[in-house]
Amino acid sequence: MLDLLVTHATLPDGRSDMSIAVQDGRIVEVSPGLAAPAHETLDAGGLLVSPPFVDPHFHMDATLSYGLPRVNASGTLLEGIALWGELKPDLTADALVERALAYCDWAVAKGLLAIRTHVDTSDASLLAVDALLDVKQRVAPYLDLQLVAFPQDGVLRTAGGVASLERALDKGVDVVGGIPHFERTMADGAASVKLLCEIAAARGKLVDMHCDESDDPLSRHIETLAYECQRLGLHGRVTGSHCTSMHSMDNYYVSKLLPLVAESGVSVIANPLINITLQGRHDSYPKRRGMTRVPELLAAGVNVAFGHDCVMDPWYSLGSADMLEVAHMGLHVAQMTSQAGMRQCFDAVTVNAARVMHLPGYGLAPGCDASFVLLQARDPVEAIRLRATRLKVWRHGRLLAQTPAAQAQLHLPGRADTTAFMPARR
Ligand code: FE2
Repeated sequence: MLDLLVTHATLPDGRSDMSIAVQDGRIVEVSPGLAAPAHETLDAGGLLVSPPFVDPHFHMDATLSYGLPRVNASGTLLEGIALWGELKPDLTADALVERALAYCDWAVAKGLLAIRTHVDTSDASLLAVDALLDVKQRVAPYLDLQLVAFPQDGVLRTAGGVASLERALDKGVDVVGGIPHFERTMADGAASVKLLCEIAAARGKLVDMHCDESDDPLSRHIETLAYECQRLGLHGRVTGSHCTSMHSMDNYYVSKLLPLVAESGVSVIANPLINITLQGRHDSYPKRRGMTRVPELLAAGVNVAFGHDCVMDPWYSLGSADMLEVAHMGLHVAQMTSQAGMRQCFDAVTVNAARVMHLPGYGLAPGCDASFVLLQARDPVEAIRLRATRLKVWRHGRLLAQTPAAQAQLHLPGRADTTAFMPARR
């Protein structure tokens, strides 16, 4: 007797009328038209069943702090960093934990079951690190939280920055972060990349650096990151986040850079909601979009994922833990409007993001965790178009969240009552 059998599901790869059989928290079979006794059977009615959404780049220590102590007036990255600096002395562990837990509730409701969050290690007290380690433990029964030691003020620029980062790693933070473009000089930026990659190699950690989050085409720390990744044998274990300067780089230089990034196995994370609002702020017209070169990176064979980055914090005043909103914006900014391009945007917030986080058991195949989302959409493109309702969210075979189907009833003069837009089960 199975624990759960989902029938008539459409999968993200286009297979339809599929059944997903679940036993003991794992997927035991995925095949068309399977009928077997189960404690619970759910007819998906042709709707999309996807593996959970994954956010590979977030800042949970700052989330839901919008307006504290004031709003970012210029809308720039640099004022955001300054504002976060103003907020830090007033942070308390209790408030951090409360906001993070609230955000994780939003995430689960949206089928977002794995988040990689950067946590600021610049403050020697490591208040935020301790708070998020606590949150990680508390949410573990329903959400995978991975922490990145992130020296927001620059690991070399901050007195004691290296020691604080190493202490965060000692406490159990999973990934080594960095922010080379915020160090005082290009040389210091490159030195920080080298140092942080060496720390990661010595400790067997993954690396995820904020890299070149600027409009300066000469900010080329991604090149150093890929080089150090190769030199230290970290293939497949390193990620460059943001990489917005690539948008403004010379095309000839990029033609040399992309093969290096691909060969090194460095993943790249674009954060479309944030970078379409932060970048280009020093431009008059035309204003650069600023997002990294997503289609070109994908074409070069680089694993590209999309992150949410911020929700209601010093850098971004909007957001709701909805990775389909992230995919929607990424699709627009990168002009990935072909069928293949739109599906790649769905992959960027699911499988590609899971690859960044090295999530074990992720996917819709026998042997994977029985973690998946039933969406009110018939395929990934429709899911993005509608930012589809997450009808049901399961993790390890357990139902964690459900949302009623969106259903607008129309009562139009001269017409029979009808519904608009919303795809329904067959
Ligand atoms: Fe970020």
